[in-house]
Amino acid sequence: MAAAAVGRRGSTTSTFVSLAVAMAIAALSSLPPSSTAAKAAPCSSHTFSGTTGGQNPYASCADLPRLGATLHYNYTAATNTVAVAFRAPQAKGDDGWVAWGINPSGRAGMVGTQAVVAFQRSDGSLVAYPTLLDSYAPSMAPAAPGDLAFPVSDVAAEYVDGKEMVLYATLALPAGNGQQGSSKFTHVWQQGTAVVNDVPAAHPTTGDNILSTATIDFSD
Ligand SMILES: *[C@@H]1O[C@H](CO)[C@@H](O)[C@H](O)[C@H]1NC(C)=O
Repeated sequence: MAAAAVGRRGSTTSTFVSLAVAMAIAALSSLPPSSTAAKAAPCSSHTFSGTTGGQNPYASCADLPRLGATLHYNYTAATNTVAVAFRAPQAKGDDGWVAWGINPSGRAGMVGTQAVVAFQRSDGSLVAYPTLLDSYAPSMAPAAPGDLAFPVSDVAAEYVDGKEMVLYATLALPAGNGQQGSSKFTHVWQQGTAVVNDVPAAHPTTGDNILSTATIDFSD
């Protein structure tokens, strides 16, 4: 008798548990697609202007885990250089900014990152240049030659599909990067919604905007 009662109570509990799980799953699947709304199309579907038939000239690409951003990259082992195209949605049209860079210290954070940034100036022109993120309140000024830890060239930017910015650059990667292999780096990316007096304004300091870093092996 007692055993049966226990058994019944046990099965009642497990019914409640599976009901709770089912409800949790239902709740999850009915969540508004807040994060997917800002998501870019998977990188493999992107086309590129300036190439025959919009063909993708990059050997590899990665859908980055935050901010709906993607990175196309082309690594040349012989010279340890990588050409990249960083692409990120613009939350509020063309008045924001995007940035991408490598933190050669290996720290998963913005300080020390050798970045490229792109945004639209008040005169309507699109600018892109390297900049050194030397603090949590960097000047965002163009890096002077010699400021950066490694040469960055061919920096350019364009808007695509009226809502995304693509930032291009070629990096001569620093060799012997600490404990990491020469083609493996910590990269950091960002997107902000405001440019004030032709200077990118601070990005949000919560959520995706402070989690947008990862390691990448350009030889993959
Ligand atoms: C990527 O490398 C290939 C082979 O070297 C080259 O043809 C192509 O132009 C490169 N693409 C970019 C964007 O540098």
